[in-house]
Amino acid sequence: MRIVHKVSELHTELAEWRSRRETVALVPTMGNLHGGHLSLVERARQLGECVAVSVFVNPLQFGPNEDFQRYPRTLEADAKLLREAGADLLFAPAVSDVYPAGYPPATTVRVGGALTEILDGHFRPGHFEGVATVVNILFNLVRPDVAVFGEKDWQQLQVVRRMVADLGMPLRIAGAQTLRDADGLALSSRNQYLNPRERALAPRLYAALAAIGEGLRAGRRDFEALCAEQWAALESAGFRPQYLEVRAPDLGVPQADAAAFAILAAAHLGTTRLIDNLQIRVDGPA
Ligand code: PAJ
Repeated sequence: MRIVHKVSELHTELAEWRSRRETVALVPTMGNLHGGHLSLVERARQLGECVAVSVFVNPLQFGPNEDFQRYPRTLEADAKLLREAGADLLFAPAVSDVYPAGYPPATTVRVGGALTEILDGHFRPGHFEGVATVVNILFNLVRPDVAVFGEKDWQQLQVVRRMVADLGMPLRIAGAQTLRDADGLALSSRNQYLNPRERALAPRLYAALAAIGEGLRAGRRDFEALCAEQWAALESAGFRPQYLEVRAPDLGVPQADAAAFAILAAAHLGTTRLIDNLQIRVDGPA
């Protein structure tokens, strides 16, 4: 596995792959890699002949009071994991490589409409603009045939898909299932902020999503009441929920006779913000 920091080095490596007409799969990450990220690498290996992974903590997607400064940077450990996972190239640029004309960039990509105004978009103003912009830059630098994103960040996946569709970007976006610990907690770089007591409570976020899923499967369609019950359960367990909602999989308004639903949540536990979602199919109208 090659490790490159500069765009010129990246292009040298990519030129070699392209001269062999090999397809390129990209996995964009912010590093501090865990099993969830590695499952994306595995998916990428199935989808492309060459796998590039980017590790870049993108300042543009963090709010002023968010954890950009304390976000864990563990490049050496990341490189080891990626080598073992069979990645071919690790691209780990600095802010000045990604934003060469100066930071912040004058040009950004904003996916408009409700998709970026609800849920995380509501609580993290500007976040998805930062994500769409850096993902667009990474696509331009790497020019992958396919890029893999986790369903863990369901709204992010929808935003990236919409950007690619709206702008006619010539690549395929693949989603990969959320990897969880045995107790249900979705793997996340932010889990390490949790103290042992919080870590023991954290799986209740997924349990709340699962309980709503059970209700939907049992035929309930009183979305707000279903969520209110689990909101109260989360609060009494010590969470401070920001949102807990049933939506359509594309994050539109859920219809009672739909065959699929997305259940999405964000909540603080201590100083850590956790997000999770559950995608469920139901057997049709109750
Ligand atoms: P990051 O949080 O590092 O996540 C990188 C990718 O890993 C994302 O596509 C995310 O959905 C996926 N991922 C995280 N936890 C996962 C899990 N438990 N199971 C499966 N996939 C998981 O998301 C970002 O970085 C950034 O916003 C980025 C897209 C890199 C743009 O800066």
